[in-house]
Amino acid sequence: MTASEGTILVVFGATGDLTHRKLIPAVADLHRTGLLKGPLRIVGYARQDLDDESFRALLKQTVEGEGTNAVIADTCYVQGDFREKAGYERLAKRLSELEKEGGSAGRLYYLAAPPSFYTDIFQGIGAAGLAKEGEGFRRIIVEKPFGRDLETAESLNTELHQVFQESQVFRIDHYLGKETVQNILVLRFANGIFEPLWNRNYIDHVQITVAESLGVEHRARYYEEAGALRDMLQNHLLQLMTLIAMEPPVAFEADAVRNEKVKVLRAIHLPAPEDVPRLTVRGQYGRGEIDQQQVPGYRQEPDVAANSNRETFAALKLQVENWRWAGVPFYLRTGKRLAQRTSEISVQFQRAPQRMFAREARLKPNVLRLRIQPDEGITLSVGAKVPGMKIELRDVEMEFDYDAFGHPGTDAYERLLHDALIGDSTLFTRKDEVESAWRVVDAIERGWQQEETAPEIYPAGSWGPESADELLHHDGRRWHLR
Ligand SMILES: NC(=O)c1ccc[n+]([C@@H]2O[C@H](COP(=O)([O-])OP(=O)(O)OC[C@H]3O[C@@H](n4cnc5c(N)ncnc54)[C@H](OP(=O)(O)O)[C@@H]3O)[C@@H](O)[C@H]2O)c1
Repeated sequence: MTASEGTILVVFGATGDLTHRKLIPAVADLHRTGLLKGPLRIVGYARQDLDDESFRALLKQTVEGEGTNAVIADTCYVQGDFREKAGYERLAKRLSELEKEGGSAGRLYYLAAPPSFYTDIFQGIGAAGLAKEGEGFRRIIVEKPFGRDLETAESLNTELHQVFQESQVFRIDHYLGKETVQNILVLRFANGIFEPLWNRNYIDHVQITVAESLGVEHRARYYEEAGALRDMLQNHLLQLMTLIAMEPPVAFEADAVRNEKVKVLRAIHLPAPEDVPRLTVRGQYGRGEIDQQQVPGYRQEPDVAANSNRETFAALKLQVENWRWAGVPFYLRTGKRLAQRTSEISVQFQRAPQRMFAREARLKPNVLRLRIQPDEGITLSVGAKVPGMKIELRDVEMEFDYDAFGHPGTDAYERLLHDALIGDSTLFTRKDEVESAWRVVDAIERGWQQEETAPEIYPAGSWGPESADELLHHDGRRWHLR
């Protein structure tokens, strides 16, 4: 399917990091791969005093990637503050002029703006009549974070729905645009062998790790407010968990898939505040070594309070209370400045019910590892006989490597931008999904607030606090990545 004849992409926050690093290159990729039918015009909106020419010059300096020049040559700029009515009126005028020239299939608004302005932008769009469909579609992509707890997410949804219908809204979680994440559904539902085993009778537990080796970088001001739980777990990790735990949808289409995902989120047991310390770990990175370089601790980073208790690591043990998953723990962990940058899901199966071979106990249990990034692929570990007269057993791995396809997959932003342009919201999070995810995070936050203890410091370059290992050791298990 192709997208966007005479379509306009309006980027709110067009001079920012996300636009330059992700959005413009994603549009260039769409052009290059032939997925854009006809022109897709970019209109940037931001506060800086620029015109079309100086905006293009700015993009040329900062945007990287093949084919971006062709995209940049056609971009326009409207100067305005997010809180200024006149700015939206200038934008409305410019958009109608462009549509007279180039067609009016529709407009896609992209909120690449600081979250504190989301409501101003919804209201500005609404007041200027920019959300009304008629001539063409009107859709909006909203970046993370979507709120900072259930209450703020609900009020953001209320504000959004004053202006846009849910069918016009595309809440983006770029993890869902990754090839390997979409492959979870293909692996589960296009193959006959996994689904019969995919339940409490055969699966011992599931681990989800999203590890970053970078520190807080230039995002300290935001991060001091958010922390690992809100920044990563509420969205990326819980989304991965829903894909692993959901029931088969009746069809691979937006509402059918999202109905099943939201059921998982609703089935997650919300721990009482007094149980939270037993089921979770909060950590913060201290000084350490990454790639043989000394790196500062979180509290030594610019714009971080010297006594900050903000968590840069979180590990949780969650339970999905339904028939499929009763009694199967899901261990989730994410953190900054960990030993390596990697995202991986591992599904550990139960051991064979009877030990027939000597030294069989030394074998590891069967584990299906879904490697999401980098080094994308799937591995299944099994026990095998070592050649020879004796029955000697060893763990071996059956390996599928994404390189086998011989071409790199589509970039997540390219994929998601394309889907929003053709109006397919399967890989975007719905209102009830976002709110249900916040309900889980809020339950943990409540426990942490009551606890009033500082996060456990872990050395940069390690796999996080020792308590995260203990969380699993206590259950007789261990992290596969360590
Ligand atoms: N960067 C990433 O990799 C990344 C990843 C995931 C999600 N996100 C989300 O994407 C959004 C944008 O992030 P970012 O890193 O691109 O932010 P950023 O670099 O700070 O850019 C913010 C943009 O908003 C504009 N802006 C700020 N205040 C304004 C105002 N009052 N009126 C008009 N324009 C204003 C800035 O323009 P001027 O400077 O011209 O004022 C700039 O274009 C955030 O919600 C963030 O959480 C970013």
